[in-house]
Amino acid sequence: MIVDRVARSNRSFFPLPAALRRRRPTRPGGMPARLAILALLLLPAAAARPQGPAAPAGADINRDFLAPDLDPEAWRQRFEVESREVFACREAIVGALGLAPGDRVADVGSGTGLFLAPFAEKVGADGRVYAVDISPRLVEFLERRVRDEGLSNVAVVLSEAGSARLAPGSVGHAFVCDTYHHFVEYEAMLASIHEALRPGGQLVVVDFDRIPGTSRQWLLDHVRAGKETVREEIEAAGFEFVEEVEIEGFAENYLLRFRKH
Ligand SMILES: C[S@@+](CC[C@H](N)C(=O)[O-])C[C@H]1O[C@@H](n2cnc3c(N)ncnc32)[C@H](O)[C@@H]1O
Repeated sequence: MIVDRVARSNRSFFPLPAALRRRRPTRPGGMPARLAILALLLLPAAAARPQGPAAPAGADINRDFLAPDLDPEAWRQRFEVESREVFACREAIVGALGLAPGDRVADVGSGTGLFLAPFAEKVGADGRVYAVDISPRLVEFLERRVRDEGLSNVAVVLSEAGSARLAPGSVGHAFVCDTYHHFVEYEAMLASIHEALRPGGQLVVVDFDRIPGTSRQWLLDHVRAGKETVREEIEAAGFEFVEEVEIEGFAENYLLRFRKH
């Protein structure tokens, strides 16, 4: 069962890909003594090393989301829980977008849709929210949720790994929460989001910061790039960096705002 595969840490919400699980370091007790001493000597140097170029996200990072037997309720319980930083801080995150009545916003990588109701309320009856996700099972769940909660201004979009499948210039705001590191084709996704935004539109990215030597092992294994690299990638895609917004309660995450030139 998916839930059983989730790392036990209170703050770990994702199953570690099998390949990474197998690559977990052997306990020092299991190492020959000389190797263990060498590892201890090298550790501070490794921790201090600056971040190199980011490896691409492994194609299987979305394996669980693409599984035909995905259990949406299990993911909802995992995503929509106070011990998850982005859930606990959701009001401040929504506030940072500055949505107004009549706005059109895309939630790219909507997951179980935790931001849909607050976005729908902010943009009102004249606005539009696009809930975009590549997971067919989550998209079914989102369609049900939107219907059950009466969110008549929300449209659900089944997207592709390299395209948000939104019309050019159709939105003023694009929101990518805990999803940028899931973009296996991040350059194509950024180009697609850029095209979907109207000129002057904003892209807001919330993600885990990956800090070698500081971040916990799960995060280092799961997230391919740190904040600076993410910023560089997004700027290279034609966005202007506007600011980092401090969110009270964030310890492992950051929120960056960009604008389409
Ligand atoms: C970790 S979840 C985050 C969900 C939600 N944003 C939240 O914070 O609760 C990542 C989501 O991104 C989706 N995803 C991965 N790659 C994507 C892509 N290229 N375009 C749209 N969605 C994607 C996954 O299917 C999954 O639902």
